[in-house]
Amino acid sequence: MKTITPSAGTPISVFNLLRGLLPPFTNNISAFSVVMKQFSRQRYCMFVNSGTTALYVTLMALKGLSDRKEVILPAYTAPSLILPIRKAGLEPKLCDISLDTFNFDLDALSLLVTENTLCVIPVHMFGLACDMGRINKIANKKGVYVIEDAASSLGTIINNKNAGAFGDVGFYSLNRGKNLSTLSGGCIVTGLEDVQKLISAEIDKIRKPGLKLKIGIMVKTVALALAVRPLFFTIMRRLISKFKYTTLHTDFDSFKYTRFQAGVGLSLFKKADKIFEERNKKGRFLRDQLNDVEGLVLPEILRHSEPAYNQFPIVLKDSNKRDLLYFEINRQGVECTILYPDPVHKAHDLGYGLANDPFPSASYMAKRLLLIPTHPLISFESLKVVVDVIKSNI
Ligand SMILES: Cc1ncc(COP(=O)(O)O)c(C=O)c1O
Repeated sequence: MKTITPSAGTPISVFNLLRGLLPPFTNNISAFSVVMKQFSRQRYCMFVNSGTTALYVTLMALKGLSDRKEVILPAYTAPSLILPIRKAGLEPKLCDISLDTFNFDLDALSLLVTENTLCVIPVHMFGLACDMGRINKIANKKGVYVIEDAASSLGTIINNKNAGAFGDVGFYSLNRGKNLSTLSGGCIVTGLEDVQKLISAEIDKIRKPGLKLKIGIMVKTVALALAVRPLFFTIMRRLISKFKYTTLHTDFDSFKYTRFQAGVGLSLFKKADKIFEERNKKGRFLRDQLNDVEGLVLPEILRHSEPAYNQFPIVLKDSNKRDLLYFEINRQGVECTILYPDPVHKAHDLGYGLANDPFPSASYMAKRLLLIPTHPLISFESLKVVVDVIKSNI
């Protein structure tokens, strides 16, 4: 039987799980926040159940400090980011992406930021660092907050500091597909005392998970620890696929992060450097192997940054080739993905109209992007197979 390597893979061990179950000698959540404060070199850190909730409580806090309404985000990113913006009563405004960096088009961004802008959300997509120096400059000129979405770039380094530490507020996701996972979770970091107080007040309003939900989280975390192992994934693939998200969410649930997850996270963080280094190494390997291949676009890497690749992104100039490679690579036993099939403006009706596409680069990307796993549980042999499939089918 040919084993299949899944697209996501935090190596959660039995020991990590047991750490979550230890009796409450320590407060795991405050211990984990100490670790994350050191990691981000920020004064404050708070946890919630997801990155989406992290963004929501941050937006609600900023609303308390300003009457401005517009929130700028990339036109190619997680479409679910629209939900907390709308729920907070704010207005999403999209900015096209750059096909060089795969992140914000900074020239377009500088034209979009106005006195009506409450905040911009630079997203370090796939672990690729945005130019935070330039983004902060653009935002500061108009007194605009920067919420740095480091959801999928935990461990990416920019100028010797971790991504997430450059905005007024930064947040990370710990969901099952992210660089380090405790099944779910959102971690918010900031250096601003007034913002922290307001975020904390918003988190206080969120419900505590009940016993049934807590037990469900424990069981699912154990299942995740197994599901990312290629052999188990291969045997249980049909069942696992039932738990994957395949449709766009229309709402999100908010509750407090659990003690169990914080314990698992604390324990996992002891090997975080190794995990992030592995992600970087696998991305570099793919880069070296695919650098000269015609018909492919690889992202530019920001100077003085080291990406902890969530997955390695490639763009196929011919969209039919993307679809073919997606099929062939999966057939060879590596689960590659196409992420979001539509850019944000086509996934949500944001009133832009579709006749004259206002975000052509985001639309181009959505049809041509292919993501290759870079997690610690994929072997270099499997990555060589991926490279061979690409080279022989392009
Ligand atoms: C870039 C980005 N931001 C935010 C989120 C939301 O995180 P969560 O799934 O933890 O709510 C995601 C999730 O996929 C994401 O990819």
